[in-house]
Amino acid sequence: MGLQNQKEKIIIIDFGSQVTKLIARRIRDFGVFSEILTINDLYKVKDYTDIKGIILSGGPSTVTKKKYLSIPKEIFQKKIPILGICYGLQLIAKLFGGSIKSLRKKREFGRAILNKKSESLLIKNFFKVKNKSVWMSHQDAVTKLPKGFKIIASTKDSKLTIIENTKIKIYGVQFHPEVTHTENGNEIFKNFLFLVCKIKKKWQVSSETNRLINQIRKTVKRDKVICALSGGVDSSVVALLINKAIKKNLVCIMVDTGLMRKNEFKDSYKIFKKKYKLNVKLINASKLYLKKLKNINNPEKKRKIIGNLFIKIFEKESKKYKSIKYLAQGTLYPDIIESRSVTGSQSSKIKSHHNVGGLPRRMNLKLIEPLKEFFKDEVRVLGKSLGLIDSIRNKHPFPGPGLAIRIVGNITSEKIKILQEADHIYINELIKHKLYNKIWQAYAGLLPMKTVGVMGDSRTYEYTCLLRAVVSEDGMTADYFTFPKDFLDKISNKIVNGVPGINRVVYDITSKPPSTIELE
Ligand code: XMP
Repeated sequence: MGLQNQKEKIIIIDFGSQVTKLIARRIRDFGVFSEILTINDLYKVKDYTDIKGIILSGGPSTVTKKKYLSIPKEIFQKKIPILGICYGLQLIAKLFGGSIKSLRKKREFGRAILNKKSESLLIKNFFKVKNKSVWMSHQDAVTKLPKGFKIIASTKDSKLTIIENTKIKIYGVQFHPEVTHTENGNEIFKNFLFLVCKIKKKWQVSSETNRLINQIRKTVKRDKVICALSGGVDSSVVALLINKAIKKNLVCIMVDTGLMRKNEFKDSYKIFKKKYKLNVKLINASKLYLKKLKNINNPEKKRKIIGNLFIKIFEKESKKYKSIKYLAQGTLYPDIIESRSVTGSQSSKIKSHHNVGGLPRRMNLKLIEPLKEFFKDEVRVLGKSLGLIDSIRNKHPFPGPGLAIRIVGNITSEKIKILQEADHIYINELIKHKLYNKIWQAYAGLLPMKTVGVMGDSRTYEYTCLLRAVVSEDGMTADYFTFPKDFLDKISNKIVNGVPGINRVVYDITSKPPSTIELE
């Protein structure tokens, strides 16, 4: 990960917290570009001109040990404002001569009440409510104030919860302002950005489009690029971007596994071909997938078969085109962040469910990943500036293995058809009731057991349809969506009446964790 040039930004040093990427999101939402760097990345930064502020994230390490994660000391001489969060605060305290102790018995986890002790630029509009609660997650605490610092706020168990040294513009907070459980947490970022760093609101995702197009042109030159197009948001935006940059030299392949939603694949194909005039080829592989998946019950086996078959088909097809040098992928920023270690080593891998992950090496292709700096919702904004139609732009995420992981157990063409019908009814009703865009992901699944029902005067013995709808920020955690009872009644009725093969509908009310979003 290199730094972006030519724009003012805030950098976030990642010490390994699970929520570091939320910090980047919050800052970008304020119209300020932010980038997450590992400690190794930081050592490589030569020019600090565009860096207007530095945030040190939380993380699982402890400064109470002899060896601990730290940053180059020269950073403090650059007079760039710094905000430390949790571990970041403890590191600042340690480097400036404070003391840090392990709390063990008095560790703070969850909500804590914060009391203001002094005024500060950092807390403007932050203490708007009585009994101000903040989200804590720490075992160590700063017990002695570092020299030149002042206490701004305390909780019962940790006196030094917000500290500052205005002379050198260094601030620290023990709680996590980036998580929504901290009331008005955004005010802390807003104050840090605009009152302390004095950075301007200049950044907009949509204005990145031209830069990306130019970057693709510069990289690819006259070579050819191949891209697997699924009709989801990410691959669609990638294809449109690259098409804008190099037109005929982009080859898009759509592999129809037969495991997609009803009509969706063929409809998307028509849109890409006719509306966007992409050079796109549709390959119908549904029979082959069905054959390979016959009698396979194990979820991991299913995933492997689907992934490997995809690679085989794609590889075979791409060999028909000469002089392809690049493979375009819709890798997103969270994928990049999650696949590297805190220090920046390349040892950890891209998530295994990236089903085209093995392609570039196998086919000896170079990768281009134009979305690797962006979050999903930012990709949707890019899509808008590229003229991507709303029905694709706002589409819920859909997994690579498709309906195969939503049909629990073995897969047959009959089950796929049943599920496609049920899912079609469900999704259309969500759209009709203006619920679709309120939900992060929704789908119908098919459970492998048959149960008894009664329709008219006859006994039925049919499958159970499971409905899932979740709200989430990035798919890592999720809460089930609460539907009005009327909607559930209606949908259950419509599915049971409209889909032969289903006589029971259940709504999944588990969150992730402990459940996952998909069934397999
Ligand atoms: P889980 O089921 O792990 O899903 O809670 C989290 C998010 O990841 C998606 N998902 C996949 N996406 N290939 C993909 O491209 C896959 O193999 C895959 N498996 C799960 C899932 O739809 C959800 O958005």
